[in-house]
Amino acid sequence: MIEELSEFLSKGPAWIWGAGLLGRSLYSVLKRNGLSGQVAGFIDSNPTVQGRSFLGVPVEGAAAIGPRGRVIVAAAKNVEAIYHRLVDSAEAGSENVFDINRYPELGHWSIEIVGACNLKCPSCPRGNFGTVAGKRVMRPERFAAIVDHIAKIDRGTSYVAIYNWGDTLLHPNLKEILDILNERLFYIAASSNLSMPKPNLETIAQELRCGELRISLSGFTQEVYGRSHRGGDIELVKSNMRQLRACLDAAGNHDIQVKVVYHVYKHNAHEVSLMKEFAESLGFVFDPIKAILFPVEHMMDYLDKGCSSSEDFNNMAEYMLEPLRQVLRRGSPHSICKFWKQNNIDVDGAVTLCCITFDRTRNTIAHDVLAEGSVGALLARKRSHPMCSGCMSHSIDQFVWGDLWV
Ligand SMILES: C[S@@+](CC[C@H](N)C(=O)[O-])C[C@H]1O[C@@H](n2cnc3c(N)ncnc32)[C@H](O)[C@@H]1O
Ligand code: SF4
Repeated sequence: MIEELSEFLSKGPAWIWGAGLLGRSLYSVLKRNGLSGQVAGFIDSNPTVQGRSFLGVPVEGAAAIGPRGRVIVAAAKNVEAIYHRLVDSAEAGSENVFDINRYPELGHWSIEIVGACNLKCPSCPRGNFGTVAGKRVMRPERFAAIVDHIAKIDRGTSYVAIYNWGDTLLHPNLKEILDILNERLFYIAASSNLSMPKPNLETIAQELRCGELRISLSGFTQEVYGRSHRGGDIELVKSNMRQLRACLDAAGNHDIQVKVVYHVYKHNAHEVSLMKEFAESLGFVFDPIKAILFPVEHMMDYLDKGCSSSEDFNNMAEYMLEPLRQVLRRGSPHSICKFWKQNNIDVDGAVTLCCITFDRTRNTIAHDVLAEGSVGALLARKRSHPMCSGCMSHSIDQFVWGDLWV
């Protein structure tokens, strides 16, 4: 795809439609490949991000495209509608529109830098799958070797997520981890529950510019939040959010995207607007998402046997906005999983099947990523993995990807 993009951009500057994770990480891919000079700016329909900038490149509304403007579509939602609107409009025409979703090779990597979490949420395997002893962290030297290896075997890497089931902010050498990615011009995705005393917010504010920080939560008051974020303290989270705003202002960091991800269940839907107001008052993007129950192993047992081995998981199923079986009925037969284009590395350097399975006795597809020579070889192992046929037959992958909610 880099070659095709290079050719498209050689004909003139273009806008990137989408100032979220996809659009901004695409910009970093272009930067790594010496093509970012041809980007006119970002287009985004969300008015709260219009007027901002990312690495000096402005974010505007669609009106900025102008007659015969050229566009690269890198939106996460409503992609078909955006594409057709652009192509059908007298202003663009198909030769002026490049849809990155038609090129499957732009994948991302997630590297678990901390194999532990401070909370035990009942909808997450950290809370519902039995504990993994001790806090295990990936050392910066090992992390650097892995990132260099990724750069070698996957030129199309759009971003590197430094979490899967662990919490980014628990890493004791976070600055070194971020430096490694910054030096190599990788877009960074970090995620935290922020429910911890003294998280390293100064480091985030100073070093996380080319990337995003997700703040995951599920309520505005303690009574509501504590039910789904077990062990968490929402007042501590709010105080850390205020502190983060102060650190970002002090560091002059206008590039980071801070996204407050609110997991919506039946029990907390009435507090969404309170958190939205609070998050937006701090200048953060607010992103409410319908809560999901993890991991795949429990979901399959729940569907096949009527319940999973986890009481927590079974209880939380009652809190989902729509019953799991009802949502899954909207799935369609398929044989390709969208998660296959992501690659996941656990804290010990092993490659796991995907980011939504958890049981290492079943989901390990390579014991050491450094011994793997190509993404294609990993993909072949995913395609024939027994867990995938079960997952796809229930359309669990489509559900978690977000394709089945209405
Ligand atoms: C398992 S968390 C681990 C990272 C970090 N501890 C956190 O809480 O953000 C990884 C991602 O999964 C998302 N997530 C966790 N539980 C979820 C749920 N029940 N429904 C939807 N997304 C969830 C979080 O928002 C987060 O970005
Ligand atoms: S089919 Fe399911 S288990 Fe297999 S990679 Fe996709 S999401 Fe993971």
